[in-house]
This record gives sequence, structure tokens and C-alpha cells, in this order.
Amino acid sequence: MSNEVALNQLLELTRERVERSLSHWLPSSDTHPARLHEAMRYAMLGSGKRIRPALVYATGKALSVDFARLDGPACAVELIHGYSLVHDDLPAMDDDDLRRGRPTCHKVFGDAMAILAGDALQTLAFYVLSHDRELNGVAPQTRLAMVESLALASGSRGMAGGQAIDLQAVGRELDLTELENMHIHKTGALIRTSVRLGALCCDCASAEVLQGLDRYAKCIGLAFQIQDDILDVEGSTETLGKSQGKDHARDKPTYTSLLGLDGAREKAEELKVKALDSLAPLGNKGEELRSIARFIVSRPR
Ligand code: IPE
Ligand code: IPE
Ligand code: MG
Ligand code: MG
Ligand code: MG
Repeated sequence: MSNEVALNQLLELTRERVERSLSHWLPSSDTHPARLHEAMRYAMLGSGKRIRPALVYATGKALSVDFARLDGPACAVELIHGYSLVHDDLPAMDDDDLRRGRPTCHKVFGDAMAILAGDALQTLAFYVLSHDRELNGVAPQTRLAMVESLALASGSRGMAGGQAIDLQAVGRELDLTELENMHIHKTGALIRTSVRLGALCCDCASAEVLQGLDRYAKCIGLAFQIQDDILDVEGSTETLGKSQGKDHARDKPTYTSLLGLDGAREKAEELKVKALDSLAPLGNKGEELRSIARFIVSRPR
């Protein structure tokens, strides 16, 4: 099977499974308080690349984990991601009007409701991890490690911390180490955890395999945000489904502002190669993980 076919199959399967799980776990939009549940469903359902869940499934597949066991973790990580986007778009943060090709959550539901929707999506992620029956077959301490991993990746030492660094960096020039640190936290942490959650669903992976997967995940996490910076320069609003050129307009330090387009592309390529090398312990397994690494640095949106 060609790489592209394998990737498309995985993304299709991911889209279907995640949409179904999200729809299952999110309260219906007529459940009281209806407006809040409507905002949560609006933010989560219908679109998005679902790359983080795809990483959960691809990692699980490489380790021969049953897909049903991966549904909860895949859904949980996407809920955290969705919440981060709702808050990222707020006027007090990036002040964006367009997300996934539609008006942002706060544009439709108001700032206060969008803040609450984000809060509730975040806690729902942990509810799913602790409540999903499909995870009953995982050892209790491993399941706790999943909760711990997602909490760390989301909080002040992960995504939220990275977002704080991002806000404080507006109008300043960061050096490469500072910029890398910001990206590793705001975007890398959740991507790294997606792979870890998939791996934790398997009880029997060797330390060498786990280490390789973690190194892979670190590399693609940073590469993902570098490509996001690149797309902000050379993408189109229509393809991206979010407003192009916002980083420059808001004076954000990015890989392209520091290294130029070619420099940023080179760095992303380097990380891709490193990520692919890191998968050596998997042998001929992990075809989808390899395809995702290639996709991350070549994606048009
Ligand atoms: C956008 O993430 C925000 C970043 C962390 C760069 P995605 O590019 O994964 O957004 P969706 O989920 O496909 O909309
Ligand atoms: C977002 O980074 C990182 C998050 C934690 C949401 P960006 O602010 O660059 O993401 P986009 O470009 O708005 O999707
Ligand atoms: Mg932002
Ligand atoms: Mg933003
Ligand atoms: Mg961006």
C-alpha cells in the first residue's frame, strides 16, 4: 500500500471514529443549559484535521492495540485541542473571527459562553478518560498515567504555559531557543501526549520502542507548529479555514519571522527526518506514523 493511501485511510477512519465519540460524549444541544452545550458541539463537531486523534490511532495500530480502546484517549486529546482553539481565538488572545471555515465560537455565542465552553470541553476530556468503559482493560495505574500525561500537557507546564509565553512574546523578538521553547509547549506538548496516550493503551511495548515513539512525537510536535507558522505566511484564508497573515499583523515571533520561509522549511524538514529515524525500533510497523510525519510538513492547511 502506498504511503498516501495508508494515510488517507487512517485519516478517514479517524474522522469517522472521532466524530462518533465526540457526538456521544458531548451532551446534546437540547440538554440544559442548552446554549452552553450548543457552543461546545459547535466548536467540536464537523471539521478539523483531527491530527492528534490520528496519532493516537496510528500509535495504537503500530502496537496492535484494538481501535475501540483508543477511542476514549483520541476523543480526550481532541477535546483539549478544541478547547485550546476556542480560547486561543478570543479577543483577549489572538482575536480571530474565523476557525475551521466558520465564525469562531465567541463570534457566534459571545465571549463569556465561549470561555465556559472551553472550560467544559477541558473537563469533559478528563471525564472521558476516567469514565470510558473500553479503558477498563487497561491497568489502573496505566490509566492514571494517561490522566497525568494529558493534565501535564494541557496545563501551565504544557499548552497553557506555551500560550502564556506566546502572549508575552507579542512585539518582542525571541531568539531561536526561546521560540522553540514556546512552540514545544503551546503545540508540541499535546501532540507528544497524543502518541503517549496511544502507547499507554498497549501494555507490552518495550522501553526502546516507547523511547523512539517519544522522540518521534517531540520532533513532529515542533514541526507541526513550524508548518503552522509557514502556512500563516503562504497559505490562503480559504484553504486554511482561518485568517491568513495574522501572526505578522499581530507582531508575533514565529519561525518564519526569525528564519525566513526557507529557513523555517529547512528546520521542519530536519525535524521530519529526525522523527522518521526515531521510528527505527518499530521495524516495518508504524507506516501511518511515518506518513503523518511527512504530512505534517507538507500539509496545505
Ligand atoms: C491549529 O491546530 C492550532 C495549532 C496548534 C497550530 P490544527 O492545525 O490541528 O487545527 P485543526 O484541528 O485542524 O482545526
Ligand atoms: C495555537 O497557536 C496554539 C494553541 C494552543 C491553540 P496559533 O495561535 O498559531 O494557532 P492558530 O494559527 O490560531 O490555529
Ligand atoms: Mg495563538
Ligand atoms: Mg491563534
Ligand atoms: Mg498559527
